[in-house]
Amino acid sequence: MNTISVENVSYRYTRERSVLDDVSFTVRPGVNLGIVGESGSGKSTILRLLLGLLRVDGGRIRFGDSILDPSARAFMRSYRRSVQAVFQDPYSSLDPRQNVKNIVAEPLRSLRIPGDVGTAVKGALEAVGLPADILHRYPHQFSGGQRQRIAIARAIAARPQFVLADEAVSALDLSTRIRIVDLFRKLSDDTTLVFVSHDLGVVAALCEEIVILERGRIVESGKTRDILKSPRHAYTQALLASVPRMPA
Ligand SMILES: Nc1ncnc2c1ncn2[C@@H]1O[C@H](COP(=O)(O)OP(=O)(O)OP(=O)(O)O)[C@@H](O)[C@H]1O
Ligand SMILES: [Mg+2]
Repeated sequence: MNTISVENVSYRYTRERSVLDDVSFTVRPGVNLGIVGESGSGKSTILRLLLGLLRVDGGRIRFGDSILDPSARAFMRSYRRSVQAVFQDPYSSLDPRQNVKNIVAEPLRSLRIPGDVGTAVKGALEAVGLPADILHRYPHQFSGGQRQRIAIARAIAARPQFVLADEAVSALDLSTRIRIVDLFRKLSDDTTLVFVSHDLGVVAALCEEIVILERGRIVESGKTRDILKSPRHAYTQALLASVPRMPA
C-alpha cells in the first residue's frame, strides 16, 4: 500500500497568477482525506495534478517511492490502476454512445487488468447497488444518481487503492446526495477516498482528515474532529458557519 505525498506543490495556468502555492499534504492508505475550500480555491486543480492531467510547476507529488511523472507511460499505467476518479457531473462524465458494460469495463480494458471483464463489471455494479441486467442500457436511460453510481462502478472496477472524487455529490438533489454519500462511506472500507468539495458537511461525514484551501494555499489541516471542534482559521470558521447542521 502506497502513500500519496504532495510536497510543496505550486501550479499556475497563466504566467500572471499562481493557482496553488506551496501546497503539502499526505494521503495515507485507509485514511479518507477531504479537501475543502470555496469556489476557485484550487481544489479541482489539485485533483488534476494528482491524476497526472497537469504537471506541477514547483514541488513534487510522490506515490510511494516514485515521483509522479505524467509523461512516464509505464509509471502512469500502473499508477492509474491504483488511483481512479469520479467527477461532478454525471451527465457529461459518461460517454453517451457506450452502454453500461463498456463504460464500466473501460479502465479494465485500457489498463489491461487480468481476469474476466464481465465478472469484474458485475461485481462493480453490485457494489454500487445497481442490478446486473442494466449492462446493455445507455447513460440517457438513467437518473443523475444512477449515473453517478455507474461512474463510481467504473472508478472501482479495477479495485484501485485510491478514489479521487471532485464534487461527486454536488449536482445531486438532497436525498440522492445522502444515498451516494452512504455509498462512498461503504466503499471506503476497500479503498481510500480523496474527496473534494466546497461542502464541509459532506466532507466531514466521509473523511477522517481535512485540508482547508483558501486561494491556493492550505490555511488549516488535520483531523476532522479537531477542525470541527475548534477551527483555528477565520476562513474555516466561515465555511463551518455555512454548514446548516453538522453530522454527529
Ligand atoms: N484551464 C484554466 N485556465 C486558467 N485558469 C484556470 C483554469 N482552470 C481553473 N483556473 C483558475 O484556477 C483557479 C482554481 O480553479 P479550480 O477549478 O481548481 O478551483 P475549485 O476550487 O475547484 O473551484 P470550484 O469549487 O468552483 O470547482 C481559479 O481561479 C480558476 O479560475
Ligand atoms: Mg472544482
